[in-house]
Amino acid sequence: MPNTQIASDFLVIGGGIAGLSFALKAAAIGNVAVLAKAGSADANTSYAQGGIASVWSVDDSFESHIEDTLKAGAGLCNRAAVEAIVRDGPEVVRDLIRLGTRFTRVPEGNEHEYDLGREGGHSHRRVLHAQDLTGQEIMRALWEKVRARPNITFYDENLAIDLLIANRGRTGARCWGAYALDRRTGAIRKFLAPFTLLATGGAGKVYLYTTNPDIASGDGVAMAYRAGVPIGNMEFYQFHPTCLYHPEAKSFLISEALRGEGAILKLPNGDPFMKRYSADAELAPRDIVARAIDAEMKRLGLDCVYLDLSHRGADFIRRRFPNIYTRCAALGIDITREPIPVVPAAHYMCGGVVTDLHARTAVSGLYAAGEVAMTGLHGANRLASNSLLEAAVMARRAYLDIAEQISAGPPAAPPDFSAWNPGRAIRSDERVLVTQSWDEIRRLMWNYVGIVRSDRRLERARRRLALLREEIHSYYWDHLIDSDLIELRNLVVVAELIVRSAICRTESRGLHYNVDHPATDDEHWLHDTIVRE
Ligand code: FAD
Ligand code: SIN
Repeated sequence: MPNTQIASDFLVIGGGIAGLSFALKAAAIGNVAVLAKAGSADANTSYAQGGIASVWSVDDSFESHIEDTLKAGAGLCNRAAVEAIVRDGPEVVRDLIRLGTRFTRVPEGNEHEYDLGREGGHSHRRVLHAQDLTGQEIMRALWEKVRARPNITFYDENLAIDLLIANRGRTGARCWGAYALDRRTGAIRKFLAPFTLLATGGAGKVYLYTTNPDIASGDGVAMAYRAGVPIGNMEFYQFHPTCLYHPEAKSFLISEALRGEGAILKLPNGDPFMKRYSADAELAPRDIVARAIDAEMKRLGLDCVYLDLSHRGADFIRRRFPNIYTRCAALGIDITREPIPVVPAAHYMCGGVVTDLHARTAVSGLYAAGEVAMTGLHGANRLASNSLLEAAVMARRAYLDIAEQISAGPPAAPPDFSAWNPGRAIRSDERVLVTQSWDEIRRLMWNYVGIVRSDRRLERARRRLALLREEIHSYYWDHLIDSDLIELRNLVVVAELIVRSAICRTESRGLHYNVDHPATDDEHWLHDTIVRE
């Protein structure tokens, strides 16, 4: 009889910066099971280039980082969240350094002098980075420590399907873990724990073009939504202005740090255009830059625009951006001599599972941290490099809160959840129904719910998605499930949440721009969009 139940003190769903930094702390007080639906490096964190924003230089101040974050958030940030996360920043950066992260230092500086990058919307240089491979370096350091902790068990290729909730929708609702599919064997097991951290990252795969890797299908948001947890601000999906445009480059980001170092956005004839859209030009917040590129592409019928850093010289470019230089060179683009073709792509989910400042959700025992969560830090638009910061800070806060609860007394025993029952489900023999729905959702989200929206397009998207959801739902319950089907079921939920929230917000603010409601309406809309099942 295979083991269908695994119990631990903590269940962490997700192995990016949020999940692993929480696991390392929690391992000091108990056993931790970490689930990741793919391999150990398959996380948005591994792809982070620009770095982690934190007040580090003596010329900088918390007040300035707070102001920049609030300004980018276009009136919707929760000031308490901004203050708390910004002020915790230096501590979590020191934590990452203690764990072994090697951020790029100032040449010939002392051991505390790090090279600080600049990105759009930041009024100071405050982005610690490891050249242009910050995420890989953070993951390397975290993984080295995780491997050394015998009480952390990492279950890769294990995809959480749904949360185990006792008293769902009633007072005293509590999360006790999750069902998960082992993708290697097809077995579905119960992972039981009194404390579960959702750290499943974002949902870029809901759009046809994205900077995100394949894991980003919004599973955490969909699972929490089905568990009755409020979900907030899903209309604010951030599009990164500069993703490499090349037929062989699948979702390769051209970091905002290039613009921080002086790169200029140009039309095919070489004309710069950002000054026409913002006095801050290339360093305006992302929503403004992405909309400007979108407008120029539509106005002139272009496939892409160009980002030019060649004036900074080959030595500087190769040293500061070795990853981007090498990747572009492999595709025949020499960025030291020529501009880079770029287009905007879906990048970051500013909304998500609503949490308080201890990462607690509305269901006890269930915490959320990282991109999956909505703490109120980002409001209507995330400031560049604030997400690694938020993930590390909130993972630490979740741990501190749970440790305090545990010190007050041991958690109760879990109720008896039944083993996964496939019922009368049969093996699927029409995979095309799954692949077609995947394509349809991603394309319709790109065309109807992208950088610029309209009432008609949103309504059309809503109707199509309702039909798709119904079809997917019945297919899901009639067939034996696999990872594609589980992700598809989540993807349609996330797409509907984005559309519902976008329809609801009859104004334009931050990342949500609707041509039928082009003005910002502070009288009616200076609040979050919260939806629940
Ligand atoms: P992730 O790192 O995405 O990890 C999610 C984990 O959850 C993965 O292990 C995945 O396998 C797992 N998972 C998902 N669903 C399930 C499931 N159902 N069951 C089991 N496991 C599951 N932010 C910055 O601050 N600075 C930057 O420079 C920066 N650059 C970026 C560049 C790129 C190309 C991208 C895509 C993002 C960038 N971001 C940056 C954003 C930032 O990287 C992410 O927001 C952050 O890393 C998210 O961390 P996380 O721990 O929340 O999730
Ligand atoms: C980038 O390097 O441009 C990404 C930074 C971010 O998403 O915060």
